[in-house]
Formats: sequence, structure tokens, C-alpha cells
Amino acid sequence: MNKVTVHDKVFRLLIDRDEIQTIIDGLADQISADYKGLDMLMCPVLTGSYMFAADLSRALSIDHEISFVRFASYQGMQSTGEVKALLDFPKSCKGRHVLIVEDIVDTGATMDFMLNRLQVLEPASVSICTFFFKPASFKKNFKIDYIGRSIQDDFIIGYGLDYDNSGRSYPDVYILDNE
Ligand code: IMP
Ligand code: MG
Repeated sequence: MNKVTVHDKVFRLLIDRDEIQTIIDGLADQISADYKGLDMLMCPVLTGSYMFAADLSRALSIDHEISFVRFASYQGMQSTGEVKALLDFPKSCKGRHVLIVEDIVDTGATMDFMLNRLQVLEPASVSICTFFFKPASFKKNFKIDYIGRSIQDDFIIGYGLDYDNSGRSYPDVYILDNE
């Protein structure tokens, strides 16, 4: 499919599943090498990263534990900047090497909130892996260790990303078509 309609908007294909898999294989190679011999706790952020986390997890060549977390911040197409913990980081983060897995870092508000929350639990280390990154709207200054793809400040859906709860399940990624 080259175009999809979700609610009132038309989106066009941006990245297909083959390209997604190539990006994942590259990320998994780096992460597997960096975490070799370490006790890794992967914390994927629900709901958006469920597909990415599953693909990344099975592409890693190292053993790892998984604990999903969930925070709410976003409504419609605008980031509100407000964040709430719905499913928090587990206490077992203490002393572990935590890898946060996100679908997308936009303003960075959600991630910044999570990082502050996680610090209190005294993990041995914290790294961030996001599939998408929007550098033009990023307003924080934390380091992002693993980035699948940097994109312009446009709205995308698919591969876990939604527009008002629809469009998440597409295996490819689509971008808002303004024409
Ligand atoms: P941030 O707190 O501004 O970085 O926003 C992060 C969250 O906003 C992500 O985890 C997504 O849920 C959502 N988000 C940001 N950009 C997009 C997009 O282009 N499509 C769908 N969701 C997005
Ligand atoms: Mg998200």
C-alpha cells in the first residue's frame, strides 16, 4: 500500500518493512556487542514500542530480561508536555543495565520524565534506544544511545505508532501526506 487513510487524514509510505528490518539488524548488532556479559533489563515503553521491542528483542544475540513500562503524555498530534506513570519501572532496575526502548522521541518530555524516575531506582547504567527521532522538535539534552532513523518534524504512523489510537498495526511506516 502506498497510501492509507486513518480517521480524517491521508498518509503515504515512508519506510517499508524490509528497510525496518535492516535498521533493526543494525541496532541489534550494536546493542548485542555493547551489552555482552552485562545483566541487561530491557524496558520497552508501551504502547507504541510493542512491535519494535518484539523485533529488537529477537534480533539480539544476548540474553536479556524484559519489563514493559507505560507513561501517558500525548493526545492527537500535539505533545502536551504532561506525563503520568501508568506502569512504572520495576524495583529490580537497581544495579541492572537498563535499556529503555521507545518508538519515537519527539520533544523528549516523556523520556526526560522517565529518566528522572529511573535514576531514583539506582540502575547500574541507563541507555536509550529509539526507532525514530525528531531532532527539530527535541527540547531536552539527554543523550540518545541508539537511533534507528532521524526524521523531519512530520507526523508518522504504523509500526506501533498511532494517530488517535488507529494505524498502529501497519507493518510499514507512513507519513502525513500534505498534498
Ligand atoms: P515526546 O514526549 O514529545 O518526546 O513524545 C513522545 C511520544 O509522543 C511518543 O512516545 C509517541 O507516543 C508520541 N509521538 C511523537 N511523535 C509522533 C508521531 O509522529 N506519530 C505518532 N506518535 C508520536
Ligand atoms: Mg511512545
